[in-house]
Amino acid sequence: MPIHIPEEKLSEIRNTANITDIISERVVLKKAGKDHVGLCPFHSEKTPSFTVSPAKQIFHCFGCGAGGDVFSFLMKHEGINFFEAVQSLARRYGIALPEQNMSVSQKKAVSLRQQLFDLNRQVMSYYAGQLAGRSSGQKCRTYLEKRGFSQEIIMQFGLGFAPDGWDNLVRFFRKLNISKALAESTGLVVPRENSGFYDRFRNRVMFPIFDVTNQIIGFGGRVFDDSKPKYLNSPETPIYHKSRSLYGAQAAKNKARETGCVYIVEGYFDLLALHQHGVTNTVATLGTSLTAEHISVLRRGFAQKAFLVFDSDEAGLKAARRSIPLFMNAAMDAAVIVLPKGYDPDSFIFEFGRGAFEKESENAVGMVEFLIEFSIKSNGLSMEGKVRVIADLQQPLLEIKDNVARSIYVKYLSERLSVDENAIIEKIKSGKKRLNQVLPNNWLKHNNDEPSLSENDLLIESEMIRVEKQIVSMMLKSPEILPEIKKRRVLDYFSDKRLIEIANIVLKHPIYADEDLPGLMNRFESLDHRNMIASLAISEGCRDLNICEQLLSQFMNGIQRRQSTLVSQIKSAQESNDEELLFELLRKKQEQSVNRLR
Ligand code: GTP
Ligand code: MN
Repeated sequence: MPIHIPEEKLSEIRNTANITDIISERVVLKKAGKDHVGLCPFHSEKTPSFTVSPAKQIFHCFGCGAGGDVFSFLMKHEGINFFEAVQSLARRYGIALPEQNMSVSQKKAVSLRQQLFDLNRQVMSYYAGQLAGRSSGQKCRTYLEKRGFSQEIIMQFGLGFAPDGWDNLVRFFRKLNISKALAESTGLVVPRENSGFYDRFRNRVMFPIFDVTNQIIGFGGRVFDDSKPKYLNSPETPIYHKSRSLYGAQAAKNKARETGCVYIVEGYFDLLALHQHGVTNTVATLGTSLTAEHISVLRRGFAQKAFLVFDSDEAGLKAARRSIPLFMNAAMDAAVIVLPKGYDPDSFIFEFGRGAFEKESENAVGMVEFLIEFSIKSNGLSMEGKVRVIADLQQPLLEIKDNVARSIYVKYLSERLSVDENAIIEKIKSGKKRLNQVLPNNWLKHNNDEPSLSENDLLIESEMIRVEKQIVSMMLKSPEILPEIKKRRVLDYFSDKRLIEIANIVLKHPIYADEDLPGLMNRFESLDHRNMIASLAISEGCRDLNICEQLLSQFMNGIQRRQSTLVSQIKSAQESNDEELLFELLRKKQEQSVNRLR
């Protein structure tokens, strides 16, 4: 059931929550003329084609076609619905939404995410209060002190203490009158077999997990002794996804953007230790290995280069093997730092300080080089050793899609092993052959049932659509031309359905100022239409009325030419008795007249 929010309200929110601010919390944007550009968060790319226009309050990606206003951005980026996007911005900027239009179930359903954010914040305060509590938190305070953590870092990261016992948080929720369903959705209390709930986190030091916009999405907790499990995290909830979230992201973003690099560590305390020593461009994974989503978030919103910090060769090796293709595909530079035996980032920086840590990063090597060196270290450089090294590297090298990068690594390997480059290439290719043999012979063939247009037709077709786009773009930018469009019945000759629909609405609701654009977008439910509008509005279109009229004439002349070619084609098909062709040509002719009737 769609909820109607008046356009004035939407535009109030849109104007308060500047689209550039909202997007730049998640994507590094650079100014380019009137607009800002960055790496698109919606597809994988190496050069920025994602454009944000503050004047128009819209974004558009020239690479994948995604586009829209600030609400569409949040919907797509956070995977939420329209109302959730509107609501989260309204709340953030203190704008009241008209509630009378909503049914009770709508009020409840749409705000689940928001309720979870709010409740998590209350829980953080609760745990922090327990930590500060004179007697209850003593044990936890001592623990943190012993590990060397300062009061500032404890406050900055909102650390807390979950007291021992099965129902401390359960009782806290009851006091707040939290519904059972909401309580369960936090993941912080677990349903008992019969009835009721118990606390998930008991007798642990607690780490709230923030997202880049400083909302609390979940918690982690560590025991004080050797009991198991040592660490426990929130389960997946509507707002917590461990494959996407990074601990410390909110605190690391600025420095990462400034320095262009980000450190990735594995542990909560590793992260806190580095931050406390001023290495604040550090994030931590949350008990999972690095995923493509993590890397995408970091590459687009944080920095170009990553240092993966590991406490052992083994861990580094495993991670490097797995994540090389992920980094390559995201065009993110990555290097591995392996700390001296027996140290993790936490113990290393407390013992040797920031300078020593930064020295380690100067010596960090790229991931492929790391794999090569590691393999040489364990296999040696005997003849058999070299064969094993090449075999070790076969798969990782095969996974590198960038030919230039791959050939650089092959060359390095060849020099390092004194083995002919071509022999190495042969060996790598042999792995590829095996891969191909598994695939059926015809896996590349297309399904050929559809009658195909000739290449020439396709060219004309795409040229038509290109001009149609120019015309609609012009209609968006120069409303003065609209009467002419009506008079000449230009839209009757359009071929693209989506463009026809958009143009018809523009005729009815002309765009007199950039601020009218998002309103126009919202007249369309389909994302496809919104994307198209953003793309047309952001592309360079002409505003000169003379040129606009020329464009229209060109288009109409082209239509006439096309029609007369079609007629003569039909004639010659009739003469040569080519029934199949005739059929297809007639079909086309009919299509054109159908368009005109619309
Ligand atoms: P300290 O012993 O407190 O210094 O922690 P550490 O970070 O050095 O420990 P470790 O290297 O064992 O773990 C690194 C990270 O892996 C932790 O910060 C957790 O995120 C995760 N982790 C470790 N043990 C567990 C566990 O038992 N369960 C889960 N879910 N995650 C764990
Ligand atoms: Mn540790």
